[in-house]
Amino acid sequence: MTRDYRVLPASRVSGTLRVPGDKSISHRSLMVSALADGTSEVTGFLASEDCLATLNAMRALGVAIEQRSATHVLIHGVGLQGLEAASQPLDMGNAGTAMRLATGLLAAQRFASQLVGDASLMKRPMERVAKPLREMGALVFTNGGTPPVRIHGGRRLHGIDYAMPIASAQVKSALLFAGLYADSATTVVSPAVSRDHSERMLTSFGVRVETDGLRVRLHPPQDLRALDIEVPGDFSSAAFFIVAGLLGADPAGLIIENVGMNPSRTGLVEILTRMGARIEILNARQSGAEPVADLRVHRSALRGIAVPPELVPLAIDEFPVLFIAAACAAGETLISGAEELRVKESDRIAAMAAGFAALGVAHEVQPDGIRIAGLPIGSDTSGPVFTGGEVDSHGDHRIAMSFAVASLRAKATIRILDVANVATSFPGFSALARGIGFDIQER
Ligand code: S3P
Repeated sequence: MTRDYRVLPASRVSGTLRVPGDKSISHRSLMVSALADGTSEVTGFLASEDCLATLNAMRALGVAIEQRSATHVLIHGVGLQGLEAASQPLDMGNAGTAMRLATGLLAAQRFASQLVGDASLMKRPMERVAKPLREMGALVFTNGGTPPVRIHGGRRLHGIDYAMPIASAQVKSALLFAGLYADSATTVVSPAVSRDHSERMLTSFGVRVETDGLRVRLHPPQDLRALDIEVPGDFSSAAFFIVAGLLGADPAGLIIENVGMNPSRTGLVEILTRMGARIEILNARQSGAEPVADLRVHRSALRGIAVPPELVPLAIDEFPVLFIAAACAAGETLISGAEELRVKESDRIAAMAAGFAALGVAHEVQPDGIRIAGLPIGSDTSGPVFTGGEVDSHGDHRIAMSFAVASLRAKATIRILDVANVATSFPGFSALARGIGFDIQER
């Protein structure tokens, strides 16, 4: 079913809101709890299509999971050796995280598995996990690099010392999950910092994981202890409202409560601050293994910058909405070293550039990023930037939500096509956006 957004220009957002639970942590909470001895209770779970794909996959592997409410889940762990073969291929939907992490987990099982997904996922690269898993001794096959992923199982895995060619948390996590079953320690070295939710969660379940800079070493455990997890709000979902607040908050500021502030995720705050954003971090606290805070976002005049490439992995999912902020800044923004954006749920550089072309935003696409012209330096940055028009999200949730944020600087209605996949990460986005002042209709 295709769905569209019709977003009318709005100029002000105000109030206090909370975004749904973190997607990365929700996926991991299901997989790690499933391997523990005992029952784990997860609150703040993200009941989005992506995480429900993982939930259904874990059930298909023999794990009893009770959903007391959409966001409250009980996982009755089966222990490290307790998973059972699924009777059918596991359908991971749109979720790259689910497929890559599950590949690591299933590579180490006694039984065979097959992983499939939707049209977008079936085109995404899987050799990045399959290749190092083979080095560990696993039998993992892709279809010329993409899904279906076929895993033979029944192999004894060996710990390896793997230098990842890309800073991918999904690859790192897949290897750590496989490493739980290896006959020696597994070491993964990243070329740059990537999100560390797996390391934090496995440690709190009792696994010995040592981190030394960009090097992570996991020692295979005897068992995992069940643990209750409170999932914080997803920083990547908050990102749309952070940029909305910068473009349109009323004088009191827009408040976003209970946001996960893991430093491997918050590169966007650093980038936007360099662009002149005023984002207050309030009530910084710890929620289990993860840092959390409330944010107060003030309307800010932004200026373009060259985004330091080392910040790219720390903001990897936030680039579509950063592109919107950059279009509204005074002066040029240059994004480079971001070729990974081309292999996300869509080619995010191409999808954003096509939207910019439709909405009159000057830009120049580059193989590893984009140059966004921004407004003339010294000009008023509070006026309209985007013409009205029609943009195609290419079925990519983050492209759809980013162009909705553009309505705060639009001259006329923006129609966003193919937005059903917003439900993969952010159920309730349009209602929440309406609640703070967006004029957004979903059809
Ligand atoms: C994720 C890691 C990132 C991110 C994705 C979620 C995760 O991908 O883009 O949305 O939960 O580990 P890569 O690790 O491939 O960069």
